[in-house]
Formats: sequence, structure tokens, C-alpha cells
Amino acid sequence: MILPGSTIGILGGGQLGRMLAMSAAYLGYRVHAFAPDADPIIAQVCNRYISADWYDVTALKAFADACDVVTLEFENVPAAPLQPIADKLAPHPRALAIAQDRLAEKRFVEELGGTPAPYHAVESRDALLEGIDRLGTPAILKTRRDGYDGKGQWRIGSREEAEALDFPGTPCVLEGFVTFECEFSVILARRADGAIAFWESAENDHADGILARSTLPGAAIIGEQVGEARRLAQAIADKLGYVGVLTCEFFAGKHGPIFNEMAPRVHNSGHWTIEGAATSQFENHIRAICGLPLGDTRRVAPRVVMENVIGPASATAYEALHDPAAHLHFYGKTDAPEGRKMGHITRLEWPEEGPA
Ligand SMILES: Nc1ncnc2c1ncn2[C@@H]1O[C@H](COP(=O)(O)OP(=O)(O)O)[C@@H](O)[C@H]1O
Ligand SMILES: [Mg+2]
Repeated sequence: MILPGSTIGILGGGQLGRMLAMSAAYLGYRVHAFAPDADPIIAQVCNRYISADWYDVTALKAFADACDVVTLEFENVPAAPLQPIADKLAPHPRALAIAQDRLAEKRFVEELGGTPAPYHAVESRDALLEGIDRLGTPAILKTRRDGYDGKGQWRIGSREEAEALDFPGTPCVLEGFVTFECEFSVILARRADGAIAFWESAENDHADGILARSTLPGAAIIGEQVGEARRLAQAIADKLGYVGVLTCEFFAGKHGPIFNEMAPRVHNSGHWTIEGAATSQFENHIRAICGLPLGDTRRVAPRVVMENVIGPASATAYEALHDPAAHLHFYGKTDAPEGRKMGHITRLEWPEEGPA
């Protein structure tokens, strides 16, 4: 067990790390962070910040030596340079290696009995057209690596569009377009001894490939499919000997849950848990990696809605506070270009006058 007062290392400098660091502070841990950026937002809330390249193995080793456990908030940290510090890492880099490659991820999930969207590995324009002929249109071409928030994706409406596409020249995977009623995610926390806690699955609405809103309770179909989705998520976590919070995204389709992707970390669709659950995803992640008992994950209000604050809309987001049910989170970012996640607002809603 890594007791409060010890030092937790976080790889990555974004808002997820920032919220992890704040939960760690509640529990009395010190936080060191490591990222390539000069002045990341995590530096505003941690004890020590190291700016170095992901491939700087000497700096990584020194960083890990100063920490009792190291975790990550960003799944695209290159996995190879982490090998020398793998023993200190939670989750283990083998989870990263799979989650970083959309093709490996789909194959891994199929081996465990899960169903991803129909897909075709694409390394060339010919393979793309072959994939289009096999899967039909519409389809989505995604880079195997480094995509997030809908980046590294091209929606293809017809074979002609595929022919005209400026092929990215990096390994990709083509996915058939899934018709779904809604999207949901399974978020779990797992300790090294296999103890697992799940949060309720929110219904997730996306706009332009970016999460816009998570709502609880979600549509009825989520209740029908979440059991199967949880079994798959748990099988993934068990197979990887996973420690920490793991997120799996699903499409609720006609024939059961379709696995979309996994994130070996806390997730935007779990931000509602900060105020909306007895224990947040951030706190349980810290507890899991430190070997502490996991906290109760139950939802604490009849309805919980989390909305992202994205891009220039952030300038007026504080107005949400006129509603006393709203909790505003800002991530401390200074530029607010279109599409950038600046913060989020969570509302706990009671039907009548509110909590007694
Ligand atoms: N095969 C698909 N069929 C239908 N919609 C999809 C498909 N793949 C992605 N999407 C939509 O695009 C969003 C972002 O895609 P995703 O693969 O999750 O990428 P990211 O890594 O950017 O989150 C999904 O949440 C979903 O709304
Ligand atoms: Mg996604």
C-alpha cells in the first residue's frame, strides 16, 4: 500500500492530470508531473513539474525514482521508453500498447468475445478502396495511432469520396458506420488484487467527434446492454492485470453493445462523478493505484448532466452559475480555440425543491 504522504507521479499535463492531482491532494499525496510542454495546466496544481521529452529515458527514470507510483493521464505517451519504469507504473504499459493502436485494440477485444464495428486494416489507397468495397459507405477512416477528439478521422460518404481522399500515408483502420441509438461508456476502477468498482454508464452525446454531454440516467437501452458491456470491460481489465481507472466506449446498437474504443485512464464521460457520485473516478483512480480500498461509486442525485465547455463559448460559461445546481470547472487554459476542451459544467438535478 502506498500511504497518504507518499508521492504520485503523473505522466501528461492536461486537465485529466490536473483533476487527478487535486484528488490526490485531498488524500494527502504529493504529486510530481512529467510532460514535454513548457507550462502545462497540471503545473498549476502539483508539487513539482518536470518538462522533458517522452523519449528522454534518463529524465523519466529520475522522475520515477522520486515517486512511489507513476500513473498517466494521456494514453499516447510512447510505450517503449516506459519499459525501464514499468514496475512503478499503474496501469502497466501493456495496456497502453493496446489502447494506442486501434487495430490491435479491436483484435484484442474480439479475442475476448467483444464486437467492434466492422473494420478493415488500411495501409494504402488500394486497401482503402478494398475496405470500402467490403464494408460499404458511409465509413470512417481512422489513423491507427494518435487520434483523439475526432482528430485523425475522415468520414467517407461514397466510393468517389474515398478515391478523392488525400490518403494520410500512415497506417489506418477503416470502420463501417455503426447505426446506434446512443453511446455510452463503461468506467471501472480495478485494484491489483482484482477488486473492481463500476460507475453507472452515462449516455454520451458527441458533436463533431467531441463529447458534448453526459446524462444520467441514460436511455433505457443502456440498462439493457450495460451488463454485457461490463463483462467485456472487466475481461479486458482482468486480462491486462489492469490497475486504475479504465474506460470502454460503446455504441448501443440493435444487436447489442458495439465496442468502440478504450482509454487506459480516467475519461471525460466520467467527469460527472466529481459531484454526481459518492466517489469520483479521479479519487478511485488514486485509491486503486495506491492499493487503498475503493470508494462507493453510486450516483447521488436523481439526475446528473455534465456538459463540456468547448472553445470560445468558455468566455460566458460562468453564467451557468446563475443556476445553483451547476458546478463549473475550468481547466486553467489561456487560449480557447474552436474545439478545445476548456472546462465542464455538472448539474445535479432534483425534481422539486432539491435535497432535504
Ligand atoms: N464506426 C463508427 N460508427 C459511427 N460513429 C462513429 C464510429 N466511430 C466513431 N464514431 C463517432 O465519432 C466519435 C469519436 O470517435 P472515436 O473513435 O471514439 O475517436 P476519439 O479517439 O477521437 O474519441 C464517437 O464517439 C462516435 O460518435
Ligand atoms: Mg472516443
